[in-house]
Amino acid sequence: EVPKFVKIVEVGPRDGLQNEKNIVPTSVKVELIRRLVSAGLPVVEATSFVSPKWVPQLADAKNVMDAVNTLHGAARLPVLTPNLKGFEAAVSAGAKEVAIFASASESFSLSNINCSIEESLLRYRAVSTAAKEHSIPVRAYVSCAVGCPVEGAVPPSKVAHVVKELYDMGCFEISLGDTIGIGTPGSVVPMLEAVMAAVPAEKLAVHFHDTYGQALANILVSLQMGINIVDSSVAGLGGCPYAKGASGNVATEDVVYMLNGLGVQTNVDLGKLIAAGDFISKHLGRPNGSKAAVALSHQ
Ligand code: HMG
Ligand code: MG
Repeated sequence: EVPKFVKIVEVGPRDGLQNEKNIVPTSVKVELIRRLVSAGLPVVEATSFVSPKWVPQLADAKNVMDAVNTLHGAARLPVLTPNLKGFEAAVSAGAKEVAIFASASESFSLSNINCSIEESLLRYRAVSTAAKEHSIPVRAYVSCAVGCPVEGAVPPSKVAHVVKELYDMGCFEISLGDTIGIGTPGSVVPMLEAVMAAVPAEKLAVHFHDTYGQALANILVSLQMGINIVDSSVAGLGGCPYAKGASGNVATEDVVYMLNGLGVQTNVDLGKLIAAGDFISKHLGRPNGSKAAVALSHQ
């Protein structure tokens, strides 16, 4: 049994492009977002208001927002904000939704956002309070939800604890990130059981990187457990600059192909999505990272 409708949260322009060695021109980012929105994706994460010293790839966040705010369509375009400074910059740039990002692993919290988990939760409480005043919805991520590049396996109870803190702050949705793609259904199921005992399943999203080729299997078991929000990245772009060896997110085209096969609605036009993936892959000078996109292009 799987849900009838799955909301896909497209993270390619952010999670994908943050990890590219070469900086992608603003105009190409904007055209990618435009194509993703017109393919019917309901949510396209546009960029991050983080330190340009930490992530130079997204230093043009304000310019990207200036351009995409004029796009027509119903898609929501959230942006990552690691602290109040980022939140204020995002709001000034016209962002209508933000995402905060915590970790279930101490080591990863330190390497990704330069502070402990507890300190990050304090910062995020400040962001959530400011967001409430602006009526801006806040999504949250929990990285290393099954494993950490330094600490190895992460206990499900630790993930559930951080998820609950974010939920109690008022985050409308919490995305469980397998940052290094190490999980299998064997580790994902117990993690979800622990998290779903703390917060309702409809508030949760799953965010799988495909480093070990486990992402679609992990998504399928998540859907069977009642999750109906899935993060993915067009053409399988992505990784994380602070998680060595993390490959791209599961490709959105592959997720849509699987969901179409299951008869699950997404409202995404697979043909237009593949064209968007081909557009950015061509710009980056590499083959499309989606197997479904490659197979369908050869028909
Ligand atoms: P820090 O160095 O500890 O910050 O970085 P600080 O408060 O000490 O400030 C240092 C400098 O940064 C100052 O400037 C601040 O103004 C500036 P200076 O005086 O040196 O010129 N600064 C900022 N500038 C722009 N925007 C801001 C901002 N904040 C401070 N928001 C900080 C702490 C959190 C800022 C830094 O570590 C950072 O930007 N980290 C972001 C890392 C990142 O983006 N990682 C990738 C996203 S997470 C991910 O990919 C995982 C996910 O996909 C889920 C999954 O897969 O698990 C979401
Ligand atoms: Mg990620």
